[in-house]
Amino acid sequence: MQTQVGIIGAGPAGLLLSQMLHLRGIESVIIESRSRDAIEATIRAGVLEQSTVDLMVEIGAGERLKREGFVHHGIELRFGGRGHRINLHDLANGRTITVYAQHEVLKDLIALRLRTGGVIHFEAKADAVEDVATGAPQIRFTTSNGQKQLLRCDFVAGCDGSYGIGRSAIPEGSVRHDYFRIYPFGWFGILAKAPPSSDELIYAHHDRGFALVSTRSPDVQRMYFQCDPNDSVDNWPDERIWEELQTRVEGDKFRLKTGPIFQKGIIPLRSFVCEPMQHGRLFLAGDAAHSVPPTGAKGLNLAAADVHVLARALSSFYATGSTDLLADYSRMALRRVWRAQHFSWWMTSMLHRFHDAAEFDLKRQLAELDLVTSSRAAATTVAENYVGLPLT
Ligand code: FAD
Ligand code: PHB
Repeated sequence: MQTQVGIIGAGPAGLLLSQMLHLRGIESVIIESRSRDAIEATIRAGVLEQSTVDLMVEIGAGERLKREGFVHHGIELRFGGRGHRINLHDLANGRTITVYAQHEVLKDLIALRLRTGGVIHFEAKADAVEDVATGAPQIRFTTSNGQKQLLRCDFVAGCDGSYGIGRSAIPEGSVRHDYFRIYPFGWFGILAKAPPSSDELIYAHHDRGFALVSTRSPDVQRMYFQCDPNDSVDNWPDERIWEELQTRVEGDKFRLKTGPIFQKGIIPLRSFVCEPMQHGRLFLAGDAAHSVPPTGAKGLNLAAADVHVLARALSSFYATGSTDLLADYSRMALRRVWRAQHFSWWMTSMLHRFHDAAEFDLKRQLAELDLVTSSRAAATTVAENYVGLPLT
């Protein structure tokens, strides 16, 4: 089997890349370990930056997103028993965010890719990436019926997420350096059948820990609260969850609208960057190269930004033979990655309760929240970073 660009992973990074390459006349094949059904049913991100929405529209995947996504002009930061609005639209030059679930993005991208002749091998697991230092790298993979296959390519894009195998083809130590931060808490996430409690997302700081009120549709709400990453969902019957969430967003007579909870899960929080994001003819994009705690809502958006840079570099190579943009890929992508790392870490540290925090630290967090909700300059920093930098 042979193609121009072999892509590992049909997440946002792999699918967006494949479609962008197709529009530039470049052929690709996607190897994906999970089934289409499993991918389309996995609940993850929900917030799309303006640039991500623009990119989806530009590649022809924006029709349902434009119709069903919710455009938000602001977010609320809640602390000390009161809500404080950050007006994203005014502070960030008219830019906004759109709430549209990641699995809906994936459904739209998979349907589009297949409709436009794309090749996606589902339930095919990449085992190794080989010969990346030569002009003819290859991906070894195993199909669902156990057949061993080889995909020969000009380039390999490792879009295989945090636990993929792409990264291991960059020699650790001599070439690759990984930067980590593990947080001592996780997020307990729920989906509930209930009406929205608020028109905008609420990020709440409370003595008992962080909470986030998000949404999915007029009937389905997404909420999270900070928890012990080793806790079990079995310890949390619905009433206990609602009580905890309500306590953390209390004040101003604000009441959450509750309903049956039909999905519960705990996610660990970590910050991670792998440098460089390329080696020979292998290029990493999205969570394969970095992850951020979800507090800044940046993960999916960073994946989109990476492949935007990569698609342009690959198309410059195929159009002119020049490797200049390809050689610059990691540097270009990492600048944005580290900005997003900083923002996500900052939002996380401002809003979460740390076990070892002294009274002093709590007071300092409240002073910081007071600053970002009362100083226009500080609020602008939050708004500009939250809506995201324009794609370059
Ligand atoms: P992935 O989506 O992880 O895709 C990688 C794909 O590769 C997967 O389909 C996997 O099955 C496949 N794969 C892995 N290994 C192999 C292999 N060996 N062979 C073949 N295929 C393989 N981000 C935001 O921007 N906004 C948010 O609001 C937000 N909220 C989040 C909330 C939660 C609860 C979580 C968990 C994440 C959130 N994120 C958010 C992060 C976002 O979901 C990820 O950053 C995003 O999925 C990254 O996309 P990706 O394509 O790089 O990787
Ligand atoms: C979500 O709706 O899933 C969501 C929203 C904002 C975040 C993280 C997740 O910061």
